Amino acid sequence: MKIVNVGILGLGFMGKCHYETYQKIKGVNVAAICDIDPIKLSGDWSGIAGNIGGKGSAVDLSGISLYKHAAEMFSDPSLDIIDITLPTYLHEEYAILALSAGKHVICEKPLARDAETAKRIVTAAEKHERMLFTAHCIRFWPAYFWLANAVKNKEYGNLISAVFRRHSPLPTWSWNNWLQDQKKSGLCALDLHIHDADFILHCFGIPKSISSSGAGFNKDRLDHIHTVYEYDGALVTAEGAWEYAPSYPFSMTFTAVFDKATIALHPDGSFCLHSLDGECTDIEIPDNDGYFNELCEFTDCVRENKPSELITPEDACRSVRLIELEERSARTGEKVTIADL
Ligand SMILES: NC(=O)c1ccc[n+]([C@@H]2O[C@H](COP(=O)([O-])OP(=O)(O)OC[C@H]3O[C@@H](n4cnc5c(N)ncnc54)[C@H](O)[C@@H]3O)[C@@H](O)[C@H]2O)c1
Repeated sequence: MKIVNVGILGLGFMGKCHYETYQKIKGVNVAAICDIDPIKLSGDWSGIAGNIGGKGSAVDLSGISLYKHAAEMFSDPSLDIIDITLPTYLHEEYAILALSAGKHVICEKPLARDAETAKRIVTAAEKHERMLFTAHCIRFWPAYFWLANAVKNKEYGNLISAVFRRHSPLPTWSWNNWLQDQKKSGLCALDLHIHDADFILHCFGIPKSISSSGAGFNKDRLDHIHTVYEYDGALVTAEGAWEYAPSYPFSMTFTAVFDKATIALHPDGSFCLHSLDGECTDIEIPDNDGYFNELCEFTDCVRENKPSELITPEDACRSVRLIELEERSARTGEKVTIADL
């Protein structure tokens, strides 16, 4: 098996998560890491935190090339992929530099702070003929992957309704607190709720219209967004909220009601089929997570030199665009009709 060499750019919550995930993938080698923080490059990851996965500890980085400057890492000819786990507002600059240096790019979601910027990254990937993968991990999360197939195959009949929920304590752990800066992160809608908005596009296609409402710590902020997506025949809604108190546990859940069964991912992680005869059975799904599945997919794509069918660069642009429309609807109180994204 050809070994795929990856350089990780940005060693925060997601950089650590991707590093740990790559250790579980055969045929993938984290050959380089870049971060501006010398403490993290020394292997002291105790300052890294997020809403899942626990705090970092001491890590032995011997054998890995360590860089403080991204441009130096991009010039390493042994690297096949640059995995960008930087704050969202830095994605454009570094993704375009990496692509122009001839690297394939995995970029964390959202692809960019706005749809115009996302499009510029996609154009750079086309120009330099490199592959660009956006890490919309929910498409690869086993329970969600299962649901997308059930919708497609109509195994349980037609969908009547689907409700997606994502609840988090306020994220105060990011580097320089960039997540709490509207201009840098896009706050709850672009950073958190996009997981479900992207999955809804993936599963159900482009809605005819959306109606959003929201709330925040002040009138300029959206820390909680609720959207109704209009599709023929089915009611699809999603709620993203990150204003909860620090001890409130992170959860991602959904309930999808089909003619013949209700499928639910519950807050305790149980994934159940509630049948019409009153039975509740656990649905068997692989015992791994969306990070593992997405990074397996992207590194396989690079090894085999084929683009991913599960997420295209254009899909990632559409998701950012959809969030922009949802924010507009939440601010104006108006329903937004969507012809295309
Ligand atoms: N897929 C998911 O589930 C998920 C979860 C959280 C975050 N994210 C996304 O991942 C991205 C990163 O978020 P995070 O929470 O890991 O951020 P973070 O704040 O935890 O880490 C950012 C890291 O980037 C480093 N950095 C900043 N500027 C740099 C530069 N110029 N060169 C090198 N390093 C630099 C910082 O030192 C820090 O270590 C964001 O786009 C975010 O939306 C995705």
